[in-house]
Amino acid sequence: MKKLAVNGGNTLNGKIDLQGSKNSALPIISACVAVNGVCVIHNCPKLTDVESSLRILEHIGCKVKREGNSVTVDSTTASSWSIPEEMMHEMRSSIVFMGALLTRFTFASVTSPGGCEIGLRPIDLHLSALREMGVCVNENGGNLDCTAPYGISGCRISLAFPSVGATENVILASVCAKGETVITNAAREPEIADLASFLNKCGAKISGAGQSVIRIQGVSSLAGAEHRIIPDRIVASTHMALVAAAGGKIAVDGVCADHLAPVIPVFESAGCLVNVKNSELIIGAPKKLLRVKCIRTMPYPGFPTDSQALVMAMLTKAEGTSIISERIFENRFRHVPELIKMGADIRVENNCVAVVEGVEKLHGARVSATDLRGGCALLVAALGAEGKTFIEDIHHIDRGFEGAEHTLGMLGADIKRE
Ligand code: EPZ
Repeated sequence: MKKLAVNGGNTLNGKIDLQGSKNSALPIISACVAVNGVCVIHNCPKLTDVESSLRILEHIGCKVKREGNSVTVDSTTASSWSIPEEMMHEMRSSIVFMGALLTRFTFASVTSPGGCEIGLRPIDLHLSALREMGVCVNENGGNLDCTAPYGISGCRISLAFPSVGATENVILASVCAKGETVITNAAREPEIADLASFLNKCGAKISGAGQSVIRIQGVSSLAGAEHRIIPDRIVASTHMALVAAAGGKIAVDGVCADHLAPVIPVFESAGCLVNVKNSELIIGAPKKLLRVKCIRTMPYPGFPTDSQALVMAMLTKAEGTSIISERIFENRFRHVPELIKMGADIRVENNCVAVVEGVEKLHGARVSATDLRGGCALLVAALGAEGKTFIEDIHHIDRGFEGAEHTLGMLGADIKRE
């Protein structure tokens, strides 16, 4: 099994380009099914989750071609509305194919999705919204057979929680629905706005994406378009945590400053110097990190749950006690026992609050990535630790962090894939 070997102690210095957003790329790739045409998607990161999505497109009958970070999808040949269980299980985001398949075929035959083991992650909000739109969902074991015998009808959908995936599925199912769909309490994440921006280029009529109320006026069909995926705000925060823990100063090119507004103040409170000019973010680490009194994860524009593990790893060496409250997923502290193996002092209460007592130093250890961001948190800890760390189960990291060892090596880290 592949692992990353990291020799801690090197500071990070230099300049890197930020990858495109995984969580934007995945729904946009599935949206290509709803479009009957040729789409070109630029800035599409090379990640295993993205490759899994592209394989689903091919299974459905689309023609897919990747050239560098641009992917061309010809969906005119799509002919199947069924996705096998093993493909659905490769990642949670496979569930958004449901809305796209329904728009294209009025049928979708899928199974419950897979993904990182960070909590129960039910799909009840997706299913109840689709049912309100006239979709019959037959749940049989893990199989979900969906059909819209009278077509999909626009309606008012009020989400009980601003779920990212449910918002995306409703948008995808409603773009060609009869009449208008209004989503209230919609997720406001930048990835939702990016999906809407892509679909609008294809001829959809979506307004309000990125805000709590989204209106989708159904159109008769969508045509192919060209789109550039937004920068990955979570990977930007990964680089920020990496340099904060390792020391040094780096420039990250290609950021969207607005998307980073929820995380920059946390790094500043920890003593980092952060400067964003146009699309370049420069971050310098302090000699000694300071504690951050309290961080609460929340839906956007709150502090992202996806950055929680990264910031926790950074704060293990800060001066004083930091409190982190996880409010989105019920099992998102799985990296804690691994950080403790490296000398961190963290106490978890009720599986939703972590009390991080800063320690003088961390030491290398043999640890395992438990999920994508938890795995990246181990990288953060390893770069700032004394001695050698072996990180196992790195397939989790490969799902969302493009060329980890290459990028970090360029910045001066001693890191090897073994
Ligand atoms: C998206 O997951 C992201 N994934 C996650 O990123 C991210 O952590 C999450 O949004 C929150 O920001 C992708 O975009 C591919 P949700 P999603 O539906 O859509 C509950 C990463 O590391 N819920 O907003 O699955 C759910 O259980 C990943 O890149 C229901 O109860 O997130 C969770 O507690 C991991 N019923 C909360 O809502 C539902 O029907 C948020 O889930 C749907 C969700």
